[in-house]
Formats: sequence, C-alpha cells, structure tokens
Amino acid sequence: MNKYLPGRDFAKKKDAEDPLRSFAGRFYKPAGTIYMDGNSLGLMSRDAEETLMNAVSAWKNDAIDIWGKDGYLTYHDRLGALCAPLIGADPEEVTIGGSTTVNIHTAIASFYHPVPGRNRILVDDLNFPTDRYAVCSEIAIHGYDPEECLKTVASRDGRYIYEDDIIEAMTEDVCMVLLPSALYRSAQLIDMQKIADAARQRGITVGFDLCHSIGAVPHDFSKIQPDFAVWCTYKYLNAGPGAVAGLYINKKHFGRSGMAGWWGNDKETQFDLRPDFEPAQNAGGWQIGTASILSMAPLEGSLKLYAEAGIDRLRAKSLDLTGYLMELINERLSGYGFSIGSPREDERRTGHVALVHEDAVRINAAMKDCGILPDFRYPDVIRLAPVPLYTSYTEVYDMVEKTVRIMEEKLYEKYENKRGTVA
Ligand SMILES: Cc1ncc(COP(=O)(O)O)c(C=O)c1O
Repeated sequence: MNKYLPGRDFAKKKDAEDPLRSFAGRFYKPAGTIYMDGNSLGLMSRDAEETLMNAVSAWKNDAIDIWGKDGYLTYHDRLGALCAPLIGADPEEVTIGGSTTVNIHTAIASFYHPVPGRNRILVDDLNFPTDRYAVCSEIAIHGYDPEECLKTVASRDGRYIYEDDIIEAMTEDVCMVLLPSALYRSAQLIDMQKIADAARQRGITVGFDLCHSIGAVPHDFSKIQPDFAVWCTYKYLNAGPGAVAGLYINKKHFGRSGMAGWWGNDKETQFDLRPDFEPAQNAGGWQIGTASILSMAPLEGSLKLYAEAGIDRLRAKSLDLTGYLMELINERLSGYGFSIGSPREDERRTGHVALVHEDAVRINAAMKDCGILPDFRYPDVIRLAPVPLYTSYTEVYDMVEKTVRIMEEKLYEKYENKRGTVA
C-alpha cells in the first residue's frame, strides 16, 4: 500500500506526528516563502545566532583574553569534536577552518606525492567544478601537466556516477582519487565504502568532498577510513554564508601537514614562537593562520542543535520528506512534462530532489515569484531540498500545488529563458 495519501490533510497529519516538528520554530524563515534551498544556503537558527553573539561579547568584553580566558584558542578543535559524530570520525580527526576549496588545496599539498609513472589524480566529470580547478592547479604547482595528470571518469548519462567505472579507472599511474560523496545536481550518493576499499587495495590516496551530504546523511568514517575529506558548513549545517569549512584527516596521517602555519602548531608551544614548526598531533595540525572566530561561531550553535535532533532521526525524516515529494511529483506534475532526476532508492539519495524539465529556467523564475525558493542548475534541473530541521510536510504539499498552478496557468511563459547570476 502507498505510504503517502493524497490531499493536504495527510500532510497536516504527518506534521502533527513529526517528533522533530518543534525545531522549525528555532529558525528564521524568509517571510511568506517556502524555502527549498537549504542544500545551498541553510537558514539561520536562534542557536547559531546565540553562539555568534557569545563570540562577539567575548571580543567586546575580554579583548585579547578571548583566546585564553574564553578558550577560543582551541575553538577549531572543539568545533571539530562537535562535528565528528556526523561522519563517525574520532573527535581529533576533524578540524574547522578555511573553505572547502582551500581545504582541498591543503589536503592535496599534504598527500599528493607524484613520481613519474604514478602522478595522476582521478576525478569524475559531475563534481562541483571548484574541486577540479584546485586539483589542476595543485598538479601544476607540483611541476606536472594537468592535461596529462588529471584523469577524468565520464558519467555514462550526464546524471549519475557509476562506482565500477571509477574503480576500473584506478590504474597504476593513479596516486590519488577525489570524489564527491553526493552529486550536487542529481543528489546521487556515492558508495564511499566501495571506492575507499578499492583505492586502499591499490595504494591510492582517497579523499571525499562531503558538501552535499554532511548534515543530511550520517557517514561512518570509522569503517570507510578515507585519507581525507572536506565540506562546507553553510548548506545543511546552517552555519551562515561563507561559514568556515570542515576538514577530516585520518589519524594515521597526523603530523604530516603539507602547508605549515603557526595556528597548526602544538598549542603548548605555539606562543613560544620557535623557528621550527611543531605540528599539533591531531587534525588541528592542518590549521594555517589565525582562526576566523566570528565566522566559526554560528557553527557551534548549529552543531549543538544537530546533537539534540540526532543525525539518524534527521536522515529518517529527510528520506520521508523527499519520498513524499517524489510521490507528489509523480502524481501531480508528471503530466506537465516533469520528471525526477534523482535516485528513487533511499540508500542512493541525499537530501534534495532534482526536478527535471526542459523549461526549468523559466519555471524556477515563476516559482520564486510565487513564494517558493528553489534553485536552478544547468541545463534542466530545479533543485528542491525539504530540510528536516525546518521544512514541514505541508510546505512540501503547498509547494507542489503552487507549481501545478504555474503550469496550469502557464505563468512561466512570461519569463525570459535566461538564468540569474546566482541561479
Ligand atoms: C561539492 C562542492 N564543493 C565545493 C563547493 C564550494 O566550495 P567553497 O566552500 O570553497 O566555496 C560547493 C559549493 O556549492 C560544492 O557544491
């Protein structure tokens, strides 16, 4: 029997039974809008605001004592420990610093040791492009030619990655593989365990970009055991625009940071200001310059909120919300030329759904004017992310009904077929 029933009353009943329903009240929501873009920029919570204001007060009241008295000298370690349960890592294997792209550079600088005949980095062609830009520039910095040393596995269909294709491409000349945990367009989750096991068997260093799964899907790095991973904290983790990113370093690599800086020094001796770098023996050893406390502070409140809600409960609700959304798309929107460009199987889908339509740009624009905030990704995808911390079943229902109206009344036809600067 279908577990989702038609009609708005069903959505209201689901909301009434939802054990996580009270969390939505802790977020600031744009007025009059159904927010579906939390996979791009998460909403601000009162919890994040509070920890941001704590840091502001510490600076205001204690000035230089913010580091010692208020304990912000080791803030990156404390935030790392709060983040670690989301990926099943040891607390000391996670640090908070830089941005996703900067952390990719930091990790490659640490773990890319090319030699003639074994100098290629393996990537896919669907990952967010910044990863590829960083990989190419690191190859060049190391004195090799990106044209030769970047090895790209092409997607068979432009939507999904097939793990077997990646593994087949792990040849003798490959020394590192960098892949996303989930695809930003189709929402496909990659089987990281399978990739990491295959890489390990071949002596290949493996790293993952978790931007589209952290905070949406629990991961178990105690089993997967990649060498490194990076992620942003401004999507599902709701830490604010440009908030400071995350970096996982497998403990077997502690002490081997490739880009030294005084903030990565052992905290006991950092202020001795010695000429030689003494790396902290945890992921904090990958810190470089003075930590951006005010940009890190909202993450503290947000991660405490995660600890309260529980990543397993959030994942269960996320799957139910995206399952419900896909059911409504099938029932109410498929007659208007829409299809679903995301995996149907729960274990292969992260927190959003790709709604595919040849007129996606114009429909996306019409949705925005009708009080929905999704986003468009070239060429034909509208991404919809019902976020379990703050999206209700009723909002999902209403969003689909508003879209039906847009199609029925052809409201999208008055828009130009041109995407905005920020899609
Ligand atoms: C997979 C992925 N990696 C990286 C980034 C962005 O990197 P940064 O946080 O350095 O801006 C994004 C942005 O959406 C992304 O989707």
